[in-house]
Amino acid sequence: MNAKLRIAVAGAGLIGRKHIELIAASPDCALAGIADPSPASKALAEANDAPWYADHRALLQHEKPDGLIIASPNALHLSMALDCVAADTPALIEKPVTDTVASAQRLCAAVARSGVPMLVGHHRRHNPVIKAARETVMGGKLGELTAVVGLWLLKKPDDYFEVGWRREQGGGPLLINLIHDIDNLRFICGDVAEVQALTSNKARGFAVEDTAALLLRFANGALGTVTVSDATPSPWSWELTSGENAVYPKQDQPCYVLAGTAGSLAVPTMELWSYTGRAGWHEPLARSPVKSSSFDPLAEQLRHFLAVIVKREAPVVSVEDATRTLAVVEAVSEAARRGARVSPGEIMEQAA
Ligand SMILES: NC(=O)c1ccc[n+]([C@@H]2O[C@H](COP(=O)([O-])OP(=O)(O)OC[C@H]3O[C@@H](n4cnc5c(N)ncnc54)[C@H](O)[C@@H]3O)[C@@H](O)[C@H]2O)c1
Repeated sequence: MNAKLRIAVAGAGLIGRKHIELIAASPDCALAGIADPSPASKALAEANDAPWYADHRALLQHEKPDGLIIASPNALHLSMALDCVAADTPALIEKPVTDTVASAQRLCAAVARSGVPMLVGHHRRHNPVIKAARETVMGGKLGELTAVVGLWLLKKPDDYFEVGWRREQGGGPLLINLIHDIDNLRFICGDVAEVQALTSNKARGFAVEDTAALLLRFANGALGTVTVSDATPSPWSWELTSGENAVYPKQDQPCYVLAGTAGSLAVPTMELWSYTGRAGWHEPLARSPVKSSSFDPLAEQLRHFLAVIVKREAPVVSVEDATRTLAVVEAVSEAARRGARVSPGEIMEQAA
């Protein structure tokens, strides 16, 4: 890449600030401005010697950045992304792509009509461990995939819930956290065809769920379970096992087990279990490591976004793909509410 691409950020909160740090650290791009109505973000723009706007539309109009990172609250993703389409500005939209499947479908249609490049921030797909797990499954090393186990069990601190929306529907672990695991599992194992689910708010007593138990049927016929709770001291979550983000003390434990007819894989510990000779429960079981490199997936996502802007790479996570991940999460909520099996396809049809 020759000239530095000029990248702006809309929403300079928790994750927006991380994007701003990564832009500053990249040799291939520069910060074109920050749009965020908060006084703290104005100070941040000054500290970064970058233009500040309260409104992203004014930033798009005056700064004409090469790309915009949308890191605002979920309910603003659709309107901001549509404004990017109108301004012909490529965008990296934080996950979830939008707050509902219906609004995500509106965005998909606008992106398809315009051809403006858009990437969704399911950044874990850029983690080499997730890529290696996908290659192991898709490359047939496990034989035919039969069963998938996912755990997302951890303890959110009690003061996390002092923010009101985190105690209400939509602010809980299904839409905020499980969506990452669903996206990982879709990427590694293929699409989810059907879900059943139970949710509970017994541990914390808030309107929103704190615990959920899911049954999944994958399109390839494999069955899966995913158990979720944000109210338990436990090492078994992507956050605590992957080492992806230093704020979570890393634990040497897996959070997914992918089981096939020829072997099984623990992720992210990347231990492959199989029989080297005759297979059977009395035979010696071999454990071998699956190699993968290690780098920051958020930095890799930014590198990829720059390549998407100049159309050198197709988005690893398109708005259509992220909409299918969101449809699985909506299917989980719907299945728990109705006490019925729900297919993400049904959710997509109802929303269309
Ligand atoms: N990829 C990840 O791992 C990850 C992690 C955290 C958050 N996220 C996603 O990023 C988004 C932001 O989450 P967060 O935790 O950083 O939230 P946050 O509340 O910390 O920050 C949101 C920011 O948006 C600003 N904002 C509000 N209205 C705005 C507007 N009209 N225009 C511009 N800015 C506006 C707020 O002032 C705030 O600074 C969410 O969609 C969330 O799901 C992704």
